[in-house]
Amino acid sequence: MPATSGPRGYMDQMSPTYTPAPQGTTRRQLARERAISPPSSDKRWKLVDVAMRRRGHAADALIETLHTVQNCFGYLDEPSLEYVANSLGLPLSKVYGVATFYHLFMLKPQGKHTCVVCTGTACYIKGAFDLLEGMRAKYDVTTGETTDDRFLSLLSARCLGTCGLAPAAVLDGEIMGKLTAAELTDEIARLS
Ligand code: FES
Repeated sequence: MPATSGPRGYMDQMSPTYTPAPQGTTRRQLARERAISPPSSDKRWKLVDVAMRRRGHAADALIETLHTVQNCFGYLDEPSLEYVANSLGLPLSKVYGVATFYHLFMLKPQGKHTCVVCTGTACYIKGAFDLLEGMRAKYDVTTGETTDDRFLSLLSARCLGTCGLAPAAVLDGEIMGKLTAAELTDEIARLS
């Protein structure tokens, strides 16, 4: 069961329609003047537009806007990143940089289930690598990937704040501690 990984090919591209704001032009004015169309007629884009409008299309609305896009659509694809970049008057490279810096932003459709393995120091010492290796062996998936059948997405975190439970993981929002690789994969196998 091969797995897919996130796109990395357009990091340094600039948004095709990006132009710096002329002096004295507010971002709100600029956004209005540009009259940028969303990537599709999907009504969820209205929610994204409202989020950006509420913040006056300011550059510092970027993270909140990306959260809104992800909440609406489940992940951030290239057209959505371009739309946000154009709407906020930012270079695509900056938007893409933020989207890839924060692990909670997804660049691919996610699996039905999500497993976050902690790779913080305490968990690493106690066997986080074994958990990841067990996931790779059983599900052919590594950190940041989703299985091709979209059953499972595997993520990592620096510290879950439960170091006493190391090695720890979060499966569909439920924290599990003092795990072995077999316990984790067995738990996942019980999911439907
Ligand atoms: S290092 Fe894993 S919970 Fe803190």
